[in-house]
Amino acid sequence: MLWIASLCLLLAASVLGAPVNKERQKVLLISFDGFRWDYDRDVDTPNLDRMAKEGVKALYVTPPYLTITSPTHFTLLTGRYIENHGVIHNMWFDTTTTEKRPYYQTQFVNEWWDNGTLPIWITAQRQGLKAGSLHFPGTASSYQGEVAMVREVEPPFYNYKNETAWKENTDKVMHWFRDEDLDFISMYFGEPDGTGHRYGPDSPERRRMVEQVDRTLGYIRQSAERHGLVDSLNIIVTADHGMSTVYRNGLVEEITLRKIPGFSFSDLSFHLVDFGPSGMLLPKPGKLEKVYNALKGAHPHLYVFKKEEMPERLHFTKNDRILPIILWADPGYVINGYFPVQFNKGEHGFDNEDMDMKPFFRAVGPAFHKNLEVGPFETVNIYPLMCHILGIRPEVNDGHLNATKHMLVTSATTQAADESTFDMTFTGLAAVAGFLVVVFIVMTSHIILKNKRKIKRSGSSEHLPEEKTKQTTF
Ligand SMILES: *[C@@H]1O[C@H](CO)[C@@H](O)[C@H](O)[C@H]1NC(C)=O
Ligand SMILES: *[C@@H]1O[C@H](CO)[C@@H](O)[C@H](O)[C@H]1NC(C)=O
Ligand SMILES: *[C@@H]1O[C@H](CO)[C@@H](O)[C@H](O)[C@H]1NC(C)=O
Ligand SMILES: [Zn+2]
Repeated sequence: MLWIASLCLLLAASVLGAPVNKERQKVLLISFDGFRWDYDRDVDTPNLDRMAKEGVKALYVTPPYLTITSPTHFTLLTGRYIENHGVIHNMWFDTTTTEKRPYYQTQFVNEWWDNGTLPIWITAQRQGLKAGSLHFPGTASSYQGEVAMVREVEPPFYNYKNETAWKENTDKVMHWFRDEDLDFISMYFGEPDGTGHRYGPDSPERRRMVEQVDRTLGYIRQSAERHGLVDSLNIIVTADHGMSTVYRNGLVEEITLRKIPGFSFSDLSFHLVDFGPSGMLLPKPGKLEKVYNALKGAHPHLYVFKKEEMPERLHFTKNDRILPIILWADPGYVINGYFPVQFNKGEHGFDNEDMDMKPFFRAVGPAFHKNLEVGPFETVNIYPLMCHILGIRPEVNDGHLNATKHMLVTSATTQAADESTFDMTFTGLAAVAGFLVVVFIVMTSHIILKNKRKIKRSGSSEHLPEEKTKQTTF
C-alpha cells in the first residue's frame, strides 16, 4: 500500500512540477558587450561553432531600445522593457541641478537602478536560491536593500580587454558555482564593445577581439568541465547590443544641433547629447514647440520625437525619467551638440530594428536542445527562460516563455515557473484535486481490502504520510 501512496505523491509532485530527487539546474548568463549577431561570419570561431553544435544558436536577438549598455543589460536581468524598469540611460542625471554621472559612477547610484523592478538575483534569493554576479551592469546597486549574495564590481579604470583576467574571472565564477553552490551567476565582459567603438566593427582589431572572445568561450566550457559542472550548468551567452560603422572624414553632412536654424541651447533647461546617435532634451517652460519645430526635419538622418509620439514598438515613452524630446540618428551618424566631438569609428544606440544593433545568442547545457538553430526573438524573453530553468517564479515582466521554450529539451526538466500565476494556480489546483481523488480511491480500496481480509487493526505504516500530503499542497 505504501508504494501506491508514494506513487501518488510522486505523481502529484511531477504534475506540480517539483523536481523529485533531481539536481537543480544552474544558469550562467554571460554578456560580451557589443557582440553583434554576425561577428562570427568573418572570423574563425571554433568554440562558438561548437556551442551551436552542442546547444542552441539563435540567428540573432533583438535588444530593447535604447540600445546602450546599462539599460539593455537591466532588461536581461529583469525581462522588462526600458520604460518599465527605469534604467533609461547609462548616465544618472538630475534635470534640476543639471548634474550628470558617467557610466561607472552611475553603477553606484542605488536610486537609479532600484526603481521598482527586481533583478533576477534578488528574486532567486527570495525563493531560496543563491545568486552571484561578476562585473555585470547593475551589480553594484542594492535593490530594496538586498544585493546579489556573491558579487564583484570592477575597480574604476578597469582594463576590460585583459585575457588573463578573463580566465581568472571564469575560474572564479566556476568556483562560486561548485564550492559556494550558487544557482545563478551573471558575468560581464567589456569587449568587443571597446574595440568596436575605437576601430569600427569592420576592422581587423575587432576581428582579433572576436577571436579572443571565442578562445574565452572555449576556456569557459573547459573550466565548467574541470569544476564538474557539465551536468548541472546551463550557459547562456549573449550581448546588450551590436555596433555600427560611423561615417567620418566629411563623408557625410554631420548632425550638429548648434548649426540648425531656429534651434538654440538657451531654450533648453537640460540636455543629453554628444552620446552617440541618441539624445534627449528638456526644453524650458513654453519652449517645447519651438525646439521641436526647429529640429524636426532639419537633417535627413535625424529623427525628432516628442516623448508621447515615440513609436510604440520602441517601448521608450512611459517613464518620467524620459525627457520630453527624444532624438536619434540613422546608422552612420551621431548627434553632436555644439561641435563634432565624437571620434568613435563604431557606435550603438540606434533603432533596435537596425540589423547592426542585434546581438548574438548561444545556449548550451542540460536544459537545451543540441544542434538547434532558432529564429530571432527579443531579449526580454531571456528572463522568463532563465527563471524557468532555475525553477523560480518570475516577477511581472514583458517577456514570454513561449518565445524561447522550443529551445528546451522538455518543459518538465525543471520546476514550474509558469508564465502566469493563473497557470500555476490552475495546474496546482488540478494536481491537488487529482491527488485527492487518488487518495480517496486508495483509501476506499484499502478499507474494502481490509474488511475482506478481516484484519483486526490497520498498521500505522499503511496510513498516508500526513505531513508530506500537506507539503505538496503549497
Ligand atoms: C523611480 O524614480 C523616480 C525618479 O527618477 C521616482 O520619482 C519614482 O518614485 C521611482 N519609483 C520607484 C518605484 O522607485
Ligand atoms: C592582466 O591581468 C593579469 C591577471 O589579473 C594581471 O596580472 C596583469 O597585470 C594584467 N595585465 C594588464 C596589461 O592589465
Ligand atoms: C504565447 O502564448 C500566448 C497565449 O498562451 C499567445 O497569445 C502568444 O501569441 C504566444 N506568443 C508567442 C510568441 O508564441
Ligand atoms: Zn559601447
